[in-house]
Amino acid sequence: MKWSVVLLFVCVAAAVADESVLAEDCDEELCKLPDCRCSSTNIPGGLAPRDTPQFVTVTFDDGVNNQNILTYREVLYGRKNSNNCPAGATFYVSHEYTNYQFVNELYNQGYEIALHSISHQTPQTYWATASYDALKEEFADQRVLTAHFANIPMDAIKGVRLPFLQMSGDTSFKVMSDFGLVYDCSWITNNYSDPALWPYTLKYKSIQDCVVPPCPTGSIPNTWVQPMVSWTDLNNTKCAMADTCYYIPELDDEAGWFQFILSNFERHYFGNRAPFGYYVHEWYLSTNPAVKAAFMRFLDVINNLSDVFMVNSAEVIDWVKDPVPINQYREKACKSWIPSFCPASSCGNVPATHNQNSYWMQVCNVCPVVYPWLGNPLGLEPATGPPELQ
Ligand SMILES: *[C@@H]1O[C@H](CO)[C@@H](O)[C@H](O)[C@H]1NC(C)=O
Ligand SMILES: *[C@@H]1O[C@H](CO)[C@@H](O)[C@H](O)[C@H]1NC(C)=O
Ligand SMILES: *[C@@H]1O[C@H](CO)[C@@H](O)[C@H](O)[C@H]1NC(C)=O
Ligand SMILES: [Zn+2]
Repeated sequence: MKWSVVLLFVCVAAAVADESVLAEDCDEELCKLPDCRCSSTNIPGGLAPRDTPQFVTVTFDDGVNNQNILTYREVLYGRKNSNNCPAGATFYVSHEYTNYQFVNELYNQGYEIALHSISHQTPQTYWATASYDALKEEFADQRVLTAHFANIPMDAIKGVRLPFLQMSGDTSFKVMSDFGLVYDCSWITNNYSDPALWPYTLKYKSIQDCVVPPCPTGSIPNTWVQPMVSWTDLNNTKCAMADTCYYIPELDDEAGWFQFILSNFERHYFGNRAPFGYYVHEWYLSTNPAVKAAFMRFLDVINNLSDVFMVNSAEVIDWVKDPVPINQYREKACKSWIPSFCPASSCGNVPATHNQNSYWMQVCNVCPVVYPWLGNPLGLEPATGPPELQ
């Protein structure tokens, strides 16, 4: 009995020792830009709100397919900010059923491609408890997969959003740090929405409230948190994504939705100008035309404002690292990217090894032998022989 108790202690101690060093309170003197920023609602660079560009980050999650690409083209393509630079948006892409020719198209339009996992599997607790190796396969390998099949540069892929916004403690951040991923955009904050939390690094302890635990507690240098600042619905309840708000205008009330979006935006714009996130799933717009119309009207308005910039999420981190006032920001060159040719293949009946299905895959590369999945992101011939079919 006694021995087993002692052994248990040894095991627990060993497990804890394996964790990262617990982060200490942030010291503004030690933690300085460009590579360190304490979690706070202070405007980077000590700028006044009127000198601070109001960034708007529009993001869409999940697979890119021949339905939702129609909405993306309709609502996003051709938009420009008032400085005549192309407006941005970020796609947190999950792998299954994704059409990589459309991912290539989105990249060529200047939008940001980011990671939302290979499997996007349920249950949600899988993500809460996932091991380092599991998350390495879900995210670091997804970056390799996406770069290969969409034929886009690896280093253009910088961001991560965990499925279900289910945090994974330190683990996802350790994987990001080890594999050169720059920022996470999964961590909801309800407490810091007015004034709102600006992006920060995890070398020191975060002040952010943990809405979907476990949240990171370790000291993890080199990774940025782009907080998902909640909206406030019509009854003062917080919601992380526009399509999860509960007390909302009627779904066919375009004017009501326009006001609802605008009032959430104004909390940022007339506050500390922390980036305003419009986080939504495409189906919510395509099934609710009035919401889509209100969304487009909102974008039309902000695209006309001289101090508001609709950008890729990674551009926000770039600005925070080097926070220049609006007048200087407007004079900077627009983001640049090199459009990448798509050597297109349509791949029918690609057998899967993780289930009994076969998949149709549209890629910008040669077809994989098996459906790319965890542990085999390029879909190479499995070392253990051909997959079992049927
Ligand atoms: C968040 O707000 C709640 C309610 O006001 C409070 O109980 C909690 O301590 C806050 N958490 C943090 C991390 O600030
Ligand atoms: C809105 O919130 C108030 C208090 O915050 C509550 O009394 C009321 O019932 C809520 N309305 C609805 C429709 O739930
Ligand atoms: C944006 O500005 C242009 C040019 O000044 C104007 O024609 C247009 O109506 C404006 N759009 C909105 C939505 O304010
Ligand atoms: Zn998702």
